[in-house]
Amino acid sequence: MQDILSVIQERQSARGLYDPKHRVARQDLRKILEAARWAPTAHNMQNFEIVIVDDTTVIEAIGNLTYPLSTTFIRENYQQLSFSEEELLRKKVGLPASHFPPALTTPAAARGEVTGEQENSFVGRAIKSSPVLLIVLYDPARRAPASEGDFLGIISLGCAMENMWLMAASLGIAFHVVSALSGDEVEKEVKGLLDIPVALKIAFACRLGYPVTPPAQLRVRRDLEDFTSHNHFGNREKM
Ligand SMILES: Cc1cc2nc3c(=O)[nH]c(=O)nc-3n(C[C@H](O)[C@H](O)[C@H](O)COP(=O)(O)O)c2cc1C
Repeated sequence: MQDILSVIQERQSARGLYDPKHRVARQDLRKILEAARWAPTAHNMQNFEIVIVDDTTVIEAIGNLTYPLSTTFIRENYQQLSFSEEELLRKKVGLPASHFPPALTTPAAARGEVTGEQENSFVGRAIKSSPVLLIVLYDPARRAPASEGDFLGIISLGCAMENMWLMAASLGIAFHVVSALSGDEVEKEVKGLLDIPVALKIAFACRLGYPVTPPAQLRVRRDLEDFTSHNHFGNREKM
């Protein structure tokens, strides 16, 4: 059993390909789902459903869908990019541009001029390599009491995500959150493939498995004093 802070620090996004033949043991999957089960949720609404997909034909079909990238995504994503390790280390937030296809890292992308047909084909390949996917659903009609835009309900889904992610990390199982399944067209197709009721929404999907090559990415974080204040907002002190 690792101590909790080291699990938190070692948890990471494993975006590469997984070995589809290396299955996730059922007892490990149960522990990951158990972690979701005990996640805190607003008003203890437990506002999620999870579809476990381990049928290779269904995973293949989900992977074969088209994952379009919107101009808005491309433009706003550009703002989060760093073009060198030095830049990323200095900014302490965001992602290396090398994570993304070259077309998404040009000045034209920043100006919102990269449009239309850009497709995130890597997502499909990554999905197809996964021995198991978890599709996390919620019912937008069942919002947390008096929570505008179901802000609290959405946070609750994040709690379930993090619990599962930490459990997977502690078991040495790679985990990758995939938001692309919530895009309108893709979501409709996935819901059709999995018989998901029309009224439910896909919050996010997770790929679980064992990477072909271990993720070796520079991960940065702000320092404590970059986001904490002591007694008065803006009173930055080293903790
Ligand atoms: C709500 C949410 C949505 C995310 N969506 C994606 C996604 O669609 N694709 C992806 O590769 N990573 C996604 N991530 C992972 C983040 O990019 C990642 O956690 C962040 O860059 C920090 O890297 P780390 O997980 O390795 O610490 C998501 C994370 C969260 C919390």
